[in-house]
Amino acid sequence: MSVKSLVAAYNELTKLDLRILRVIEVAHRRYEWVPMEIIVKWSNRSWELVSKSLRKLNALGMVLRWRGSYTGYRLTYYGYDVLALHTLSKKGIIERLSPTPLGVGKESDVYVAEDPAGNKLVVKFHRLGRTSFRQTRKFRIWVGERRHITWLYESRLSAHMEYKALVMTYNAGVTVPRPVAVNRHAVVMEYIEGLKLSEIKTGLERPEEVLGSILDDVATTFREVGIVHGDLSEFNVLVELENEKPYLIDWPQWVPRDYKNAIELLKRDIENIVEFFRKEYDLDVDVEEALKYIVEGIELKELELEEAFEEVLTQRELRTYVLGEESEENIEKALSNIDKEFSTTGREDREKVKIGILSQGREDSSKDMNDENPAHQT
Ligand SMILES: Nc1ncnc2c1ncn2[C@@H]1O[C@H](COP(=O)(O)OP(=O)(O)O)[C@@H](O)[C@H]1O
Ligand SMILES: [Mg+2]
Repeated sequence: MSVKSLVAAYNELTKLDLRILRVIEVAHRRYEWVPMEIIVKWSNRSWELVSKSLRKLNALGMVLRWRGSYTGYRLTYYGYDVLALHTLSKKGIIERLSPTPLGVGKESDVYVAEDPAGNKLVVKFHRLGRTSFRQTRKFRIWVGERRHITWLYESRLSAHMEYKALVMTYNAGVTVPRPVAVNRHAVVMEYIEGLKLSEIKTGLERPEEVLGSILDDVATTFREVGIVHGDLSEFNVLVELENEKPYLIDWPQWVPRDYKNAIELLKRDIENIVEFFRKEYDLDVDVEEALKYIVEGIELKELELEEAFEEVLTQRELRTYVLGEESEENIEKALSNIDKEFSTTGREDREKVKIGILSQGREDSSKDMNDENPAHQT
């Protein structure tokens, strides 16, 4: 990661820089290291302009250069972050972003953001990790020949899986952050002002109620949504401090309840939570009893993972999650969209894109988007 904050680096980019990043992203469908010739050709700009932009993107840590039998470039996570940020800002989903992440997990960078109305959100950029990798192995059939730059496909899959789980559980009334949007490997959701159970330790005033609420939500998730969280513990429960309301977070590794190992995962989820409350609050809940209560009366198909997912997700969802929103689109169509999005005015090297910097809830720099063309979104 560069020394500059993500949002500061983003604000240094011109439309041409973004155009080049987007061209590289599209070209990754064919190349692991995208040849310089292709970037020049597909961006429809001069060699000089493209070289200059690539030097800058390279210095900012958004692309990497490779010199072998030819000179090629590839996106880094940082460059991918910038593309997601750009789309989210253009769609009016976020307007300001914190300069530093709230937390850098093994599997994500989580930033605080604000929408145009001033609502506090978080943007969770997914990273390749243990769980997302596990998840993707189930989707080999979809990832297929795209084995190069798997991190890109896997992090996107991970984000879309999490978003899907948030939508399903939120709609069923489970206490989860309200899902707002997903783009590439970034999930946008409501910001929860609170602390993790693991941070609160013995600080809860009404531990029985908190435990009861979590177990109720686990039951609703299983019985009504038909899925299992799969990584539930005191580290993935955020407690809103005001009213001690527990939110279940961190959903990318969920599995359908008809997956043959789902009950094992459900049991582990319950055990982790019950054990925490036993240790910190001396509460005594029988895991087997809780499990029985949650599963009672539900018929389980015990399918292999892929089959189980195909019951819950449509083929189209699966394709989109892995291959991207434009998975049905050919490269030519994508390139013509780039032309629209980063519209040609002859001055694009100077046109600025900006996202406000959110610092301790205050806005440091105002939005200054030069592009007023509404028909540019991908
Ligand atoms: N909606 C949210 N509101 C506030 N903080 C959040 C939210 N989602 C995540 N966080 C913070 O970011 C951290 C990492 O998020 P999490 O979803 O658990 O990802 P990871 O896979 O990296 O553990 C959380 O522990 C929490 O501190
Ligand atoms: Mg977590």
